[in-house]
Amino acid sequence: MEMGILQEVADLLRRAQRVAVLTGAGISAESGVPTFRQAQTGLWAQYDPQELATPEAFRRNPRLVWEWYAWRWQLVSQAEPNPGHFALVEMARRLPRLTLITQNVDGLHQRAGSQDAIELHGNLQRVKCYDHAHAVTTWEETAEIPPRCPICGSLLRPDVVWFGENLPLAALDAAFAAARECDLFFSIGTSALVHPAASIPLEALRAQAPVVEINPERTPLTHYVTYFLMGPSGQLLPQLVQLAWGQRL
Ligand code: OAD
Repeated sequence: MEMGILQEVADLLRRAQRVAVLTGAGISAESGVPTFRQAQTGLWAQYDPQELATPEAFRRNPRLVWEWYAWRWQLVSQAEPNPGHFALVEMARRLPRLTLITQNVDGLHQRAGSQDAIELHGNLQRVKCYDHAHAVTTWEETAEIPPRCPICGSLLRPDVVWFGENLPLAALDAAFAAARECDLFFSIGTSALVHPAASIPLEALRAQAPVVEINPERTPLTHYVTYFLMGPSGQLLPQLVQLAWGQRL
């Protein structure tokens, strides 16, 4: 990539008043958390995440789905935020307003220090029950997997959005509003395939904001964006911060 493009984006960033950022699994790739469309390793290699992250999969085999999430939770709890997550914290500190919207359920933005991230797909660290969505923090450990809700006795599940489920409405509204009102938008580490999240950058484009995409690979969004920065976010985001404000991360 030419240095000129990076400098141009850094100049826009320095002058921006309201920035909105959408992140996907790619921003956590350099923390060692596998993305959704990357082949899984080890025990789970035979399963496709897209076939586990559904209500049908849970109804068919709740134990399998619960154990897959327990494995992901373990991966995530051993992972650390990477320089891409930290660069976004620094950007939020420097800019009048930065709205961070994430599709990730790994909590790494929060652990890096990002506050008020809009979580479109929930969070792996939270648990709710299948029948009534009771938010649950403790439950009795028995031989039964998944465990049961202490309030209603239905099965517990992770508090994440599965394929075919609705996104939390307030989060979605806030995300689209941020896209509409921003003067610079970043789409980082997302395959831009899963709607409605994939429509958020398009909303920013409709509102005439420049859209910057950061990804080592082209996506269906790439054709439409104002700037495509090809590469890993753990390298490109710190570079942008340094070019914009001279701050080394
Ligand atoms: P995906 O796994 O679909 O896409 C990850 C993207 O990150 C790909 O476009 C990769 O090229 C890119 N990528 C890989 N390494 C990267 C790096 N170092 N820096 C930047 N980008 C990198 O993940 P999402 O787009 O987040 O939904 O997937 C969207 C949703 O689909 C997920 O939230 C999840 C999934 O199924 C639900 O669970 C509802």
